[in-house]
Amino acid sequence: MTVTKRNVVGGSVVTELLKHPHLYHVRAITRDPSKPKAQQLAAQGVELCRADLEGNRETLTAALAGADVIYALTDFWQKRSAAAEIEQGKAIVDAAAGVVTLQHFIWSALPDPVALSDGKYLNVHHWKGKSLVTEYIQTQKPDLWAKTTTILFPNYFENTLTDPQRYLPVKDAKGTYTLKFPHSPQTVLPNVAIRDTGKLVHHVLEARSTYFTKTIAFWAQALSEAEKLAEMGSYYNVPTRYQASSAREFQELLMTRDGMSEDIALDFTEQLLIFESCGNVYACEKFVQAKDVSQSHARFY
Ligand SMILES: NC(=O)c1ccc[n+]([C@@H]2O[C@H](COP(=O)([O-])OP(=O)(O)OC[C@H]3O[C@@H](n4cnc5c(N)ncnc54)[C@H](OP(=O)(O)O)[C@@H]3O)[C@@H](O)[C@H]2O)c1
Repeated sequence: MTVTKRNVVGGSVVTELLKHPHLYHVRAITRDPSKPKAQQLAAQGVELCRADLEGNRETLTAALAGADVIYALTDFWQKRSAAAEIEQGKAIVDAAAGVVTLQHFIWSALPDPVALSDGKYLNVHHWKGKSLVTEYIQTQKPDLWAKTTTILFPNYFENTLTDPQRYLPVKDAKGTYTLKFPHSPQTVLPNVAIRDTGKLVHHVLEARSTYFTKTIAFWAQALSEAEKLAEMGSYYNVPTRYQASSAREFQELLMTRDGMSEDIALDFTEQLLIFESCGNVYACEKFVQAKDVSQSHARFY
């Protein structure tokens, strides 16, 4: 995660803000400034601060001191623990609430899966933890909430690169590329290229108070996994087969193939089932749509 003075997070946000050195000085938080990724940022002019969101809160307070803007996100997947993620979120919110120079807090989150599904899906912990932190800002830190923009992230297109075994088809003995997902072929997911995050954040910052207290649904294209597979098949001229599995079958695949625990496999499966049961929940009217944020009509891919 990253933060700063006229500042931010995440690789894409850093890359975008570094294009505007007259506007932003970027400070990034890492637990290890010596690692190669952090050193690459330092070489581009990013100020690095060592802080652990689950560690000593004084280092975090020092890292955020003097910031005009904070872009914050938490990481569920390293520990696979909602409790740890909520601790990370509350630590940054508590520290941000004390930053007297702060003008804008941008919080990277996910929606409340229980509310969205009318109580049907109770096990999507990596969404729920983030939504509880959003609720914490709104109910416990009203002054911070007054200058907070929440951004809801969708499925990243880049997941096919970071987790190919889960998102790309596998070739069977007959040469057919098969993809298994717990969706009917028509069920769409909202997607975005995560490298576009910086563009959105830059627009949100330029819009100043316009999106304070608002929630932006960040997605560019609603696509089914079956459509993506068909497109890949046609591009590479190879036969493909989309196989809709049952929820239990998919959960077991995540456990055997990806080494997930039963709970985490259920968490991952239920988040997908929300789109099967409730449709593209990101297109809902109560969220600002990212495509409407762009002032200069920049496109998200
Ligand atoms: N993949 C998707 O489709 C998707 C969709 C929506 C939302 N998300 C959410 O995105 C989040 C992960 O973001 P990402 O994909 O950008 O992850 P990532 O590339 O693995 O980056 C995680 C960052 O978190 C930092 N971090 C982790 N624990 C920390 C701690 N205790 N203190 C300080 N920094 C810490 C790490 O920094 P250092 O290692 O440098 O300290 C690292 O820079 C997850 O919460 C996930 O639920 C993912």
